[in-house]
Amino acid sequence: MGLFTSSLLEQVLTTTLYILETTTTVFNETFASDVIEGLSSTPKFLSSKYFYDEKGDAIFQQIMDMPSYYLTRSEYQIFDTHKQALLQLFGPNCTPFHLVEFGAGDGLKTKVLLKHFIDQKACFRYLPIDISENVLSLLTHDLEINFPTLEVEPLANDYFKALDILNQREQNERKVILFLGSNIGNFEHDQAIGFLQKMRQHLNPNDLLLIGFDLKKDPSVILEAYNDKEGVTASFNLNLLDRINKEFDGNFDTSKFRHNPTYNPLTGATKSYMVSTEDQVITLEKLGKSFHFEAWEAIDMEISQKYSLSTIQHLADKAGFEVTSNFFDKNNYFVDSVWSVK
Ligand SMILES: C[S@@+](CC[C@H](N)C(=O)[O-])C[C@H]1O[C@@H](n2cnc3c(N)ncnc32)[C@H](O)[C@@H]1O
Repeated sequence: MGLFTSSLLEQVLTTTLYILETTTTVFNETFASDVIEGLSSTPKFLSSKYFYDEKGDAIFQQIMDMPSYYLTRSEYQIFDTHKQALLQLFGPNCTPFHLVEFGAGDGLKTKVLLKHFIDQKACFRYLPIDISENVLSLLTHDLEINFPTLEVEPLANDYFKALDILNQREQNERKVILFLGSNIGNFEHDQAIGFLQKMRQHLNPNDLLLIGFDLKKDPSVILEAYNDKEGVTASFNLNLLDRINKEFDGNFDTSKFRHNPTYNPLTGATKSYMVSTEDQVITLEKLGKSFHFEAWEAIDMEISQKYSLSTIQHLADKAGFEVTSNFFDKNNYFVDSVWSVK
């Protein structure tokens, strides 16, 4: 601890506020062009990264609390069981490191590590990156209260834009990147390889990457996690249509769309679709655009890929990483895989 002087800390806070303001405008423009592109395509698609506005963040918290959503509990258990082994990998003998988290969200599981690392007097600083300013400011506030001695530097930006900003400033400190919650599964296979290769280019030889992968398992267990009877996951998906209505003055009627998740055990892909229950036209006034939906036409909303250990090894090989250790939960539902740069 104690890596920062107070004036340096002030400088960092000012820079962070500036980044927050400028990225909001760029983000809104990108959101608009992504929505137009997705709803004009055949088949139609929307990116799941836009699920997370204030309401989306809150619904995701509810999802993580659901008994059927095993992912959060599994990864929590892995961290709780293996926190000391992870510290030995990240910062042995008090080697200083930057703990950078991609898509930090509410940091529920990360806090298990943060607490242990602080208790063990590890020399680290925490840099959560998230595209949702809302969730990031909630997390920062929470950490200020619960871990007042922890040095936190939030970066409200897209993953690699944030990493670029970080790399421009810091070259020497070891980076340990956390990419939890099987967020990697939100990419198609080729996209995931491209993403990991890009990650590799941003890392130095001494850096580490910890990725959470949801493993292939009984298909009924997987499908239930994305299709709860209470309809929480459905409302999470429908909220993106509400968000588009709000931000672009649209007229999506969510009662005329149905959430439809599927799991293919052959490919390991869980996919969520939003299906139009009737022929209809949606207009987004602010963008001056209308989109026609045929009855039962679907929007591709999300992929949540499930993995085998051989696929994980293949991803690491393709992207230029070496698998250093794998940590499993007691059910073998989930693995946190630590990779070093090859
Ligand atoms: C499914 S949540 C997972 C949160 C947390 N990592 C966990 O495991 O519980 C995904 C988080 O990643 C963020 N996110 C999604 N796409 C992003 C992107 N391209 N750049 C930065 N953050 C992103 C979302 O805002 C959200 O908070």
